[in-house]
Amino acid sequence: MKYTEMKKEDLLSLKNSLQNEYEKIKNLKLSLDMSRGKPGREQLDLSYDVLKVFNGGETCISDSGIDCRNYGVLDGIPECKQLFSEILEVPPENIIIGGSSSLNLMFDFICQCMVSGIGGCAPWKDQGNVKFICNVPGYDRHFGIAEYFGIEMISVPMTPNGPDVEKIKELVKDSSVKGIFCVPKYSNPDGVTYSDDTVESLAALKPAAKDFRVIWDNAYCVHDLTDTPDRLMNIFEACKKYGSEDYFVEFTSTSKISFPGAGISAIAASNNNIADIKKRMSSQTIGFDKLNQLRHVRYYKNADGIRAHMKKHAAIIAPKFRIVLDALESEIAPLGIGEWIKPNGGYFISYNTAVGSAKRIGELCKDAGLVLTTVGATYPYGIDPQDRNIRIAPTFPSDDDLKKAVEIFCLCAKISAVESLL
Ligand SMILES: Cc1ncc(COP(=O)(O)O)c(C=O)c1O
Repeated sequence: MKYTEMKKEDLLSLKNSLQNEYEKIKNLKLSLDMSRGKPGREQLDLSYDVLKVFNGGETCISDSGIDCRNYGVLDGIPECKQLFSEILEVPPENIIIGGSSSLNLMFDFICQCMVSGIGGCAPWKDQGNVKFICNVPGYDRHFGIAEYFGIEMISVPMTPNGPDVEKIKELVKDSSVKGIFCVPKYSNPDGVTYSDDTVESLAALKPAAKDFRVIWDNAYCVHDLTDTPDRLMNIFEACKKYGSEDYFVEFTSTSKISFPGAGISAIAASNNNIADIKKRMSSQTIGFDKLNQLRHVRYYKNADGIRAHMKKHAAIIAPKFRIVLDALESEIAPLGIGEWIKPNGGYFISYNTAVGSAKRIGELCKDAGLVLTTVGATYPYGIDPQDRNIRIAPTFPSDDDLKKAVEIFCLCAKISAVESLL
């Protein structure tokens, strides 16, 4: 029976029995973590042989003749550009290979726009208040970058097809709105892939700011969980019709293909943006880790190699998603106390509870030994105005821990729902 249809006295006795169950679990003094989107150990082991590809100096020389042990080749070895060109479906000349973190590339790009300007425009910092659109719920570390630079964040709600484009169209009429963070495939945390219409409408945007830039964070471009994956329209193809290529800068990495913090990151962008970014990078570094670029190319070979490898990841993590989704379906759905989207890929399940209840669930879980992503973190400034959203990250815990974790989560969701109805 739905909780909202229950009588007060029934809710009171339900509260007592849930509370008893909760006390028992608390006494077990568990220590469980569903907070961060990290691969589990079994996933990391899949790429162990990436570390074994060199067995002598000769093997450090790329097919293109570059000795990857030495300085130089600022924008990445051609073989690695080719690999990302296949994955992102962008010509190799429009790719720059970075270090181990795409977030780092995003930070540096925004820093460049703030300090030096982009596309020949004045630095953002000299143009007065700088605003960014943030699709919510969204990725806390994007918000962290904006906050670091004092960029004002304006929330736009996600829909099942991507962000609310009509709202975005209105907001970009303001020339102080300089950009937007988008995670277009298997968004963090909703797991939503932008529909073709959404991608087209974003490509067709006519921002007042000529130095408007979309951080097109395609972190989960090959991170499918099923054999019927979502398809994301190629943003640069969509832009061709509107001549809007300069507004988009795409980022990705192998953090969740090989190793977080020890993989390869990449930027895909228009000729103009690539030229601006390379100019900045030439003052910033003599070159990134080409040995790691070559290791990745030698091991994965091409986009098909990456896709085959991602199927191994899916075989490990799809059952973890199932553990969470099955529990939500059987324990929560019949009670009408929460909503979520079943993602086809990515790293998260986004749970929406009744208004004003998410923090309470977070507290209850914490006291029972289960750490969740800080409630509120999926919104700018860490404030979820409706206190509804909780990001669940199922990949890191073992299957057994995950089962216990989601049992606690469901119990806490029930307690909080009963409390808010009484
Ligand atoms: C949407 C999104 N972008 C970027 C990152 C971080 O990527 P990287 O490890 O390449 O810095 C993450 C990690 O969780 C993410 O979810």
